[in-house]
Amino acid sequence: MQEIKEKLLQAIEAAKSAKSADALEKVRIDFLGRKGMITTLAKNVDFSKMSVEEKKSFGSRLNELKNLATESLAAANAAIQESAPRRKANDLDLTAPGKGRRFGALHPITLAQMELEDIFQGMGFSVLYGPEVESEYFCFEALNIPHDHPARDMQDTFWLKNQLILRTHTSANQVRTLKRFGAPIRAIFPGRCFRYESVDPSHENTFYQCEGLVVDKDISVANLIAVMRTILSQVFRRDVKVRLRPGYFPFVEPGFELDLNCLLCGGKGCPTCGDGWIELIPCGLIHPEVLRHGGIDPREYSGFAFGVGLTRLAMMKYGVKDIRYLNCGDLRVNEQFSTLL
Ligand code: DAH
Repeated sequence: MQEIKEKLLQAIEAAKSAKSADALEKVRIDFLGRKGMITTLAKNVDFSKMSVEEKKSFGSRLNELKNLATESLAAANAAIQESAPRRKANDLDLTAPGKGRRFGALHPITLAQMELEDIFQGMGFSVLYGPEVESEYFCFEALNIPHDHPARDMQDTFWLKNQLILRTHTSANQVRTLKRFGAPIRAIFPGRCFRYESVDPSHENTFYQCEGLVVDKDISVANLIAVMRTILSQVFRRDVKVRLRPGYFPFVEPGFELDLNCLLCGGKGCPTCGDGWIELIPCGLIHPEVLRHGGIDPREYSGFAFGVGLTRLAMMKYGVKDIRYLNCGDLRVNEQFSTLL
């Protein structure tokens, strides 16, 4: 054992004076490695022939040797590192390319939402956010959809306890807002909605809408069309044609589906739109019953409401073909939009 100790110290000393970290590593392997001298020494001893005293003394000397090896190797390593040549100031290469910095990117729906908020604010609308956990009253009853109304079946709902639900549409904010701010008012309510849907390329259980309403004196369908055309022209950055078709929603009368003349084919008809029109925004004149729920006299005021499918708008604007990409949480989706701000 004494012999091994001497060899060890000599080898370390040699590696240290050669300032070679590689040589030092070789010393470590030669002595402490799986087949190294110290390990082999311990393996080859026949303990059965030793007395208890001898075993104890051998064990403790072996440990001492191992510790000595580990400590002196660490010290030698530190000494070699310490004496390694440092970079000099003039080693700095100012022409080397930088490491670059990763910037976060906004989600395409956030981008679409921010843009809509901007455009509506420019037209004097307030932006309000309502709760995602909503009462049955604001989501259905106040919107003229009583308990036994078949229109409830149009929206599959996540029910929570105490008659609370995850809101199925941002229209739930209409009566909340009317009660709180009264008339006249112009506001939009963008946000997340939930429906108990099975997920496929165009359906999600979690999606975004941007509801909006205007209540004032003498509001007519002409105002609704003018606002919708202006908004869409700004979103798509060109003049757009729209048309209204009758549509049924219990909280508007009359109710419409607002279609956009397809921007891809100019309305001639193509694989995306079919007949030249894209169904985009359901809307209508606010039902008198809804105004009454909001504490507003329908003989004095009228208004229009609309529900932009924000998720759908983002998919069309940015060419996202499968809705499931939007909620998958994969940052590679967002990263593609980092330059769009
Ligand atoms: N809340 C409806 C839905 O999610 C969409 C809607 C239809 C909103 C007509 C409106 C409207 O404001 O007037 O299916």
